[in-house]
Amino acid sequence: MERTLKMTSVNSNWDDFHKKDISEKLPFFTRDGRLYDCLFAQQFDRKLLTSLFKTADALRAITQKKEGMDHAGSLLSHTRAMLYFVQPSTRTFLSFLNACHILGVKTSEIRDTSTSSEVKGESPEDTVRTFSSYVDMIIMRHPTPGFVEKTAWLMNLTNRPVPIINGGSGKDQHPTQALLDSYTLYRSFNGDMDNKKIVMVGDLKRGRTVRSLTYLMKNYKNISLAFVSPEQFRMEPDILEFLKRHNIPFTETGDFRSVMGEADAIYMTRIQDEHDHSGESKAVDYSPFYFRSEHLKLIKKTCVIMHPLPRRNEIETSVDADPRAVFWRQERNGMWARAALIAHIFGADQKITR
Ligand code: NCD
Repeated sequence: MERTLKMTSVNSNWDDFHKKDISEKLPFFTRDGRLYDCLFAQQFDRKLLTSLFKTADALRAITQKKEGMDHAGSLLSHTRAMLYFVQPSTRTFLSFLNACHILGVKTSEIRDTSTSSEVKGESPEDTVRTFSSYVDMIIMRHPTPGFVEKTAWLMNLTNRPVPIINGGSGKDQHPTQALLDSYTLYRSFNGDMDNKKIVMVGDLKRGRTVRSLTYLMKNYKNISLAFVSPEQFRMEPDILEFLKRHNIPFTETGDFRSVMGEADAIYMTRIQDEHDHSGESKAVDYSPFYFRSEHLKLIKKTCVIMHPLPRRNEIETSVDADPRAVFWRQERNGMWARAALIAHIFGADQKITR
């Protein structure tokens, strides 16, 4: 495989590489016109998203029958993947694991650094390089922002690189969550993604899902965003700058009720208190950022209510029965969207057709 970007001294020094503008970095993680590593939501353009959604739709259709499942399961039966998830995960881990199984990818896993040689003092970088000796892809979730990117960068400098997929990197990014979130929007809106108002609610400062999903919004026409959060947890300036650069209108408010009636999608999030330094979340009244059953009559008949999950109290469980509550479908969409992504990385997506 021909690497798109030539190795230069800038590319072989992590600090120099890390500082580069995202547009300069992307070719380094791309090969043969396809994603090689999946690290940032900015890697998804509209064409790629549409193609991944079509693959995901086709995969879920053909696998309804044993014949189709057997075909899907043969596509990547010659490959092995490592799932290295050293931060808590239920859905991302299980949906990736099952996405691998759907495509026949054989899997192994580490979910706790106390069971790997990191306890003996091995660096995380050496640990991940070791995985690459045994498998053909690494899917990872790590608490340190930038670590997944660094791993992919390191791998690309070795003579046995393997694709790296980011399953969540600290407070920073969660690109495959953004992929499944936009797949959920695509299915909810029957493929018509333009001209929508998306309302994102909760801890926007520390939530990586809302950060990554916001990046994807540049792919659609006439999108507007409303960010609803406590003052302490407003969206970070880098994301607001991104929106300004791309002429995507947005508003910020602490008054959820004032924007819910205009929303085509409401994206709820929990408070991310695992990132607290000194219990600052306890000082915040999060209850104005809950979606309650009384709100159902205030939102559009076509508005969808989403949540990356896990939820605490942000959405009353009585809301689940409303057809506009799509978060359980969103969760399952993750498995199909991730399977489509893996198929794309290995060039097997062409073989998934209805
Ligand atoms: C999210 C995460 O891990 O960032 N969960 C997920 O992947 N579905 C959201 C969260 O934990 O709040």
